[in-house]
Amino acid sequence: MTERIIAGEVSEFDENFEQSLRPQYLAQYIGQHKVKQHLEIFIEAAKMREESLDHVLLYGPPGLGKTTLASVIANEMGVGIRMTSGPAIERPGDLAAIVSSLEPGDVLFIDEIHRLNRAIEEVLYPAMEDFCLDIVVGKGPEARTVRLDLPPFTLIGATTRAGALSAPLRDRFGVMSRLEYYDAEALTEIAVRSAKLFGAGISREAAVEIARRSRGTPRIVNRLLKRVRDYAQVRGDGDITLDMAQQALELLQVDPLGLDSVDSKLIEAMIERFRGGPVGLDTIAASIGEESTTVEDVYEPYLLQIGFIQRTPRGRVASHMAYEHFGFALPEA
Ligand SMILES: Nc1ncnc2c1ncn2[C@@H]1O[C@H](COP(=O)(O)OP(=O)(O)OP(=O)(O)O)[C@@H](O)[C@H]1O
Ligand SMILES: [Mg+2]
Repeated sequence: MTERIIAGEVSEFDENFEQSLRPQYLAQYIGQHKVKQHLEIFIEAAKMREESLDHVLLYGPPGLGKTTLASVIANEMGVGIRMTSGPAIERPGDLAAIVSSLEPGDVLFIDEIHRLNRAIEEVLYPAMEDFCLDIVVGKGPEARTVRLDLPPFTLIGATTRAGALSAPLRDRFGVMSRLEYYDAEALTEIAVRSAKLFGAGISREAAVEIARRSRGTPRIVNRLLKRVRDYAQVRGDGDITLDMAQQALELLQVDPLGLDSVDSKLIEAMIERFRGGPVGLDTIAASIGEESTTVEDVYEPYLLQIGFIQRTPRGRVASHMAYEHFGFALPEA
């Protein structure tokens, strides 16, 4: 897989500036109105009862703001946050060390929670339900279980694949919030906000243009903005105008819908080799030399989102919009 400028996944390039762009409080967290409304109520209620917030599961595609929202929740609750990830917790002892160091009410954030191994999950259940840990001490016939009481805490789990979570783990979350792709208005607002934080001037039309090409994803807005800003600095006077944005985005080979050569390769294969479908996922993947899981998890979601591909019981179908966008003659009825 080649590095894509419009990938939702985090890259090294993003890591240099993402932290500085992260909203700190709900009021700065743009879009996701439904999720915010629910959380506002739960947070308010927990604070009124002086209790820790229920465990929260945040799920949705990469780059939509799960990690950001976890920090926002901790800030709104006025508590600390410990961040770790599923693959980083290798032994039950690792988890025990982390949870036993929490202050009452703290947030424990576990990213990629679907990648926790079974043994850790088992330890997590009583920790989530009763705030205690059953730890095995010693080995062989000497081994015994010690119960350790924990301070009340809030587990916030994040995952791009809620379906990959085991049912018993899923059931232990009191709040499940699904983050959706952002609409154009929210993305524009994010572009304007981030430009301000970068200290760059941006016109409304330029922000709209960047938003349109960002595949519903704040991370991509920020990444494209950073590139456009560099371009405007070198080729213009530093101000991000519509003209500068369009030139820079053209150079980056991100088309007006935020599609790149990988998207066009996929659609082209469907249309030219399979008459637009229906065609099975495995067949498409094989025809472009990719793993089925890559096509399903990385290439396809945004194309489904904008209606270029449809899922049918007999396989994937390319829509008329896809034909038109990539300049193919529509198939005969
Ligand atoms: N609602 C929002 N308002 C403003 N900026 C946002 C919002 N959501 C995300 N961002 C920006 O997008 C970037 C990516 O967000 P974040 O890292 O939280 O995504 P994520 O869902 O955790 O991604 P991943 O699945 O890769 O872990 C952040 O740097 C943040 O600045
Ligand atoms: Mg994250």
